[in-house]
Amino acid sequence: MIRINENYTKLKSSYLFADIARRVGAYAAAHPGKPVIRLGIGDVTEPLPAACVEALHSAADEMSRRATFRGYGPEQGYPFLRELVAKADYADRGCAIEPDEVFVSDGAKCDCGNIQEIFAGDIRVAIPDPVYPVYVDTNVMAGRTGEAVDGRYEGILYLEATAANGYVPAVPDAPADLVYLCFPNNPTGAVATRAQLEQWVAYARRNRAVLLFDSAYEAYIRDPAVPHSIYEIEGARDVAIEFRSFSKTAGFTGTRCAYTVVPKALMAWDRAGRPHALHSLWNRRHTTKFNGVSYPVQRAAAAVYGEAGRGQVRALADFYLGNARLIRDAMAKLGLRCAGGENAPYIWVDVGRPSWDFFDLLLEKAQVVCTPGAGFGRCGEGHIRISAFNSRENVEEALARIASALR
Ligand code: MLT
Repeated sequence: MIRINENYTKLKSSYLFADIARRVGAYAAAHPGKPVIRLGIGDVTEPLPAACVEALHSAADEMSRRATFRGYGPEQGYPFLRELVAKADYADRGCAIEPDEVFVSDGAKCDCGNIQEIFAGDIRVAIPDPVYPVYVDTNVMAGRTGEAVDGRYEGILYLEATAANGYVPAVPDAPADLVYLCFPNNPTGAVATRAQLEQWVAYARRNRAVLLFDSAYEAYIRDPAVPHSIYEIEGARDVAIEFRSFSKTAGFTGTRCAYTVVPKALMAWDRAGRPHALHSLWNRRHTTKFNGVSYPVQRAAAAVYGEAGRGQVRALADFYLGNARLIRDAMAKLGLRCAGGENAPYIWVDVGRPSWDFFDLLLEKAQVVCTPGAGFGRCGEGHIRISAFNSRENVEEALARIASALR
């Protein structure tokens, strides 16, 4: 008799954004005359930068000719893209990352979800609360937790991010083996200072732990004092893996390209205490389970680093940050405290009531979709996340509707 992976039965019945999409779909079907504005899932709305489109076209032309056609590429990504990433995203910021430490993939979500496979099943995992649900759910699927009790899984060390700590969790007293961090943060939009990241690197070194640093939103950092990469912190090469994405940087949510950096110096240990390079393990996993991102998409991603591309992606992030500013101002006018939105495309609003109630209220009275904070963890209760990813027109319309719904 075929049996299931029973860890899946510990999960909530559906993934947060799938659940929201279902509710919004049902509402829209029942109210066809009331157009819904989506400020829930962080999905971009603006077209791809012109430089990326041009690169896509010319790569498609290459694929149409026998002489320049390409089949399977290297699973880890084409050298032209890995070299650009290593130089522009790391060397130019003073971080020593080699091109062959960069693994190109089809998404940071997939990589954040898959990375836990290369670690033992009985390690102690530390995860912030609130948090991007992928980190929690993939560890539940892998059997690293017990059951959920009051919305929290037994066995996870939760790192609380609240208004009291500026939504940046403090280093815990207890040791953990694997620590998930995300800055600029999803969902709170908070950023970590250099000093705070130094404490995390010191913690990981002390505990021989690994930090999984998700910096999918680094393109939104405008404060020059805020680090863009964990590798800007001394000693991080020995303890950290970093995830980046072109989704929010260059509008690639539907195009799919991202990368994960695994330094060769980074070790983890087997039961006998022998060290193993995580770079080799991830390379083994990647080459076995992944066949690479398509050539045209990697060419489009590479265009982000050209002179025209750089300006265009900067303008794109500035545009969404302009939306974020409008959202912050509107929330302040409504007397609602909020975080984020300055170096991040998410605004974390303290709504002072159950977050699903507020979600329902906005959907029913304003036809605006947000993300209820409780979906990101217990500490998210009482908050909603508003995404700045939409057209200016829709953001302005949504804010006007929210204001009249709350009047
Ligand atoms: C979000 O809304 O949190 C993100 O868009 C989800 C993702 O990047 O997968």
